[in-house]
Amino acid sequence: MTPPTPPRTLWLDDRSRVMTLDQTRLPFEQIVIELDSQAACGHAIRTMQVRGAPLIGAVGAYGLAFALRSDSSDLGLQKAFEALLASRPTAVNLRWALTRVADRVRVLAPHERAQAAWDEAGVICEEDVTCNRAIGVELAALLSGIAQRREGADGRALDVLTHCNAGRLATIAYGTALAPFYLLERISAPVHVWVDETRPRNQGASLTAWELGQSGVAHTVIADNAGGLLMMQGRVDAVIVGCDRVAANGDVANKVGTYLKALAARAHGVPFYVACPTSTIDLQARDGEAIEIEARDGRELSHVAGRLADGSRAEVQLVPDGSATFNPAFDVTPAALVTALVTERGAIPASGAAIARLLNTRGQG
Ligand code: MRU
Repeated sequence: MTPPTPPRTLWLDDRSRVMTLDQTRLPFEQIVIELDSQAACGHAIRTMQVRGAPLIGAVGAYGLAFALRSDSSDLGLQKAFEALLASRPTAVNLRWALTRVADRVRVLAPHERAQAAWDEAGVICEEDVTCNRAIGVELAALLSGIAQRREGADGRALDVLTHCNAGRLATIAYGTALAPFYLLERISAPVHVWVDETRPRNQGASLTAWELGQSGVAHTVIADNAGGLLMMQGRVDAVIVGCDRVAANGDVANKVGTYLKALAARAHGVPFYVACPTSTIDLQARDGEAIEIEARDGRELSHVAGRLADGSRAEVQLVPDGSATFNPAFDVTPAALVTALVTERGAIPASGAAIARLLNTRGQG
């Protein structure tokens, strides 16, 4: 029997609005928000009500479709494209999805554009689900291989460490790095996930832990700095992370802290897999240095938000008044530290040549 698709993070209501969860309110409140305009889509991306590279792309695509309902001229298309593109800089899926919708509609008469853009956004969402499931199948096979090669594991669960949230909440369904955990029947050993808390916004502690818990996947939240010790102690069988942009040479931009996990994994011989939809590969970025790293408000460092004992939400200050903060949201893991890029078309080495072969382009060696 095929297990059911995990719940969708984005869906449409019968009045052609886009519905999704406000991820700034998870894990304690499940608030559904309705997006019904370009402005609402842009706002949701900027404020991280929606986040995660593929979901940002999908919401951007719908934002463009909404914009074309009120102005479907060439100038209207261009303005909306640029405004949405500026919402967040690092995840290339936003540019990829906006370009795909714009290319689809530019050749049409203005009166046909809004509907065509809406339909294309829907296709992007459906493809995302298929793509993520395929990545999950690949990763499940890789994890099963690791389980079979372990000596003396005596039925011990396979311990997988992940950083940030590259789960269903970051996509339309399944997620990328977390996709194998929605296909547990394909993994030849029980699985346990170490969930990095992922300071400063805590996407691991609040989002990954929530969605794994909702689906009954065994997991433990750890401080970001605990991963190195666990790898040294042989308590991590594999690291799986997502990505926001992969350069043409295989360098990987992902949530800040990913690079340190990759260094620790290399030092301890732990495989480091990057779940990588081909839509996240940016051939225009020659290497990681060409990727813009989003710098976010220092308040994300100086303050932390959570739930008080009475159930109310609160934000408290951690850092003394007057201390400077610096808050890059992503980092770059050099290709040499990546065991494989696991795409919907199979796992490949993180190299320019392998990427070029996969995408059928001439690339760097
Ligand atoms: O700042 P965020 O929460 O949007 O960052 C998300 C990540 O870094 C994810 O790992 C990445 O987007 C991959 S999501 C499949």
